[in-house]
Amino acid sequence: MERTLVNGIGEHEGKEVVLMGWVAVRRDHGKIIFIDLRDRSGIAQCVFVAKNAELYAVAETLRPEWVIKLTGTVSKRPESMVNADLANGAWEVKAEAIEILNEAETPPIAIDTDGYDIGEEHRLKYRYLDLRRERLQANLRLRHEIIAHMRDYLNDRDFVEVETPIISKSTPEGARDYLVPSRMYPGKSYALPQSPQQYKQLLMTAGLERYYQFARCFRDEDTRGDRQPEFTQLDLEMSFVKQEDVMNLIESLYIDTVTALMPEKKIQQIPFPRLSYKEAMEKYQSDKPDIRTDKNDPNLLAFCWVIDFPFFEKTEEKGKEWTFTHNPFSAPKPEHHDELMAEKNIGGIIAAQYDLALNGYEIGGGGIRNHTPEALRKVFKIIGYNETQIEENFGHMLHALRSGTPPHGGIAMGIDRLLAILANEPNIREVIAFPKTGDARDLMMDAPSPLAKNQLDEVGLELKKK
Ligand code: AMO
Repeated sequence: MERTLVNGIGEHEGKEVVLMGWVAVRRDHGKIIFIDLRDRSGIAQCVFVAKNAELYAVAETLRPEWVIKLTGTVSKRPESMVNADLANGAWEVKAEAIEILNEAETPPIAIDTDGYDIGEEHRLKYRYLDLRRERLQANLRLRHEIIAHMRDYLNDRDFVEVETPIISKSTPEGARDYLVPSRMYPGKSYALPQSPQQYKQLLMTAGLERYYQFARCFRDEDTRGDRQPEFTQLDLEMSFVKQEDVMNLIESLYIDTVTALMPEKKIQQIPFPRLSYKEAMEKYQSDKPDIRTDKNDPNLLAFCWVIDFPFFEKTEEKGKEWTFTHNPFSAPKPEHHDELMAEKNIGGIIAAQYDLALNGYEIGGGGIRNHTPEALRKVFKIIGYNETQIEENFGHMLHALRSGTPPHGGIAMGIDRLLAILANEPNIREVIAFPKTGDARDLMMDAPSPLAKNQLDEVGLELKKK
């Protein structure tokens, strides 16, 4: 007989069903035992009566989280026993046969609660159990639905999803790189991408015109509630566009996604308000202002764009005067192009850069790029690279820009942050299946782990004595 998911038992009233899942709870009431059976769709109450002694004896041995196959007949619960709070609260399944598919040790953490009060050390060590809790199941499903919806939306608009390398080279996004030492070239190293920034621009050179990717990014920086060492961006780039085009696309995508999947949410203002960086700092002392009119409303979404960022800021770094505020590949706003080329009024140059903030978090950022080699070269010169360094590090980009690269721009949206806000979670690790701890460890896999001598030898590395 085919398996029925527990949320479907109502359609089988009076009939026999086969259920498979986990024992969530066992309740003994003398002559009757109740089992709450959980599968991916929900929970169903199953009943064992003492009259069926053999079956009853098996039911007595069942423990939480055992995996079972249960055959039984669906019946309406007596009126007084109906639980209106449960999707399946009107029915129960009278057990007729049971097969134990796997036993389970007593779980080291409670999984029938929301889990907020359990320490991170325990939750992440046993993440495969932690994920069984209803809250995290719902978060992973929401994540899947949001990403699937976004994919459909972009696919319908002629975007192509392209995967770009993970084993790559350092790209300047302002954080530290994760390094991957090379075996074939001892002493040399790959780096994990902080973002696919250069690849996506090179896809514009390649003529893709409309690219996106749900891209994993890696940044070796201190972890925080809204920051993980690896995270996911909806990364996107378009050719022949202006700032407005990218902003409008993202705005429509986000409104469409929220409206379709989370009708209970209220977007505070459409179109999303726009603030210049200067206004945001003056009015909210933040470049990702929380402009909610009611901060107690968990369903209020206050999106706002922050635009007109200064391109450069002074740096303390030795031998350097200026650094970029966002991205060295950004273009200045057209009215500041001449200043860039003349290296005049550097601190006053405004970048064609836009960030999207939501309820006080930066959930995305992007820009129109420099598509001429002269302009890009200028940026690198201002931030202190000499000609040789520019050629060595960005020769490929400059060559691409000399090879018929169209005007282009794009954005990258932080998917973990969006999900955390939509799910009203305080920390992005609640919406990531296998996140790192606050101190960047994977307690389940026990990473990072020491390297064996032969591994070091293979890549030609020696460890410094501490
Ligand atoms: P940026 O560095 O601003 O831009 O990143 C884009 C968005 O990614 C999210 N984000 C993070 N989320 C979780 N953990 C992190 N450590 C983390 N770091 C960033 C934020 C942020 O707004 N290549 C450019 C984009 C472009 O210009 O197209 C870039 O990566 O929500």
